[in-house]
Amino acid sequence: MKTLFIYYSLTGSGDRVAEELKKRGYEIRKVKSKIKYPKSLLPLMAKGGYRALTNKKDPLEDFDTDIVKYDKIVIGSPVWDDRLAPATNAVLDKLDLKDKDVSFILCSGSGQAEKATEKIKDLYNKEPIILKSPKKYPKELEKLKKL
Ligand SMILES: Cc1cc2nc3c(=O)[nH]c(=O)nc-3n(C[C@H](O)[C@H](O)[C@H](O)COP(=O)(O)O)c2cc1C
Repeated sequence: MKTLFIYYSLTGSGDRVAEELKKRGYEIRKVKSKIKYPKSLLPLMAKGGYRALTNKKDPLEDFDTDIVKYDKIVIGSPVWDDRLAPATNAVLDKLDLKDKDVSFILCSGSGQAEKATEKIKDLYNKEPIILKSPKKYPKELEKLKKL
């Protein structure tokens, strides 16, 4: 069975998830946004939070949309303003996941993500796995067993 993890990560939690899934045989496809997000916290929260709140889709760098050969796809996203990150909105817009076995892993500072969960349930009828900043709390990675 071929498995693929497609994810966006700005601050490294998603990368921890990718390391774990790579050990389990997943192929990894990291998404890069063309939007330049500020490094310092407040401007980042303002710009990123606003783009997430308004459901923006980031333009992506060289995003490979070919998923034909994979049996299972896992999508990873940080939670911004309780929602999916704008790069993830773009990923979901570009991929046809309808007939795929798809799962979602969200990384959030609080371990919660109500709006993002609602969207995933509405669009894909799935319950995401939510990790509380696994870069800081590696024990959270144990939740990946549910995949
Ligand atoms: C712009 C922005 C908005 C965020 N909004 C939320 C939020 O609404 N709720 C939350 O729990 N964490 C929020 N966070 C924290 C991230 O979800 C958390 O740090 C996550 O682990 C980041 O994943 P990454 O390191 O893979 O980018 C936000 C972070 C950023 C940069």
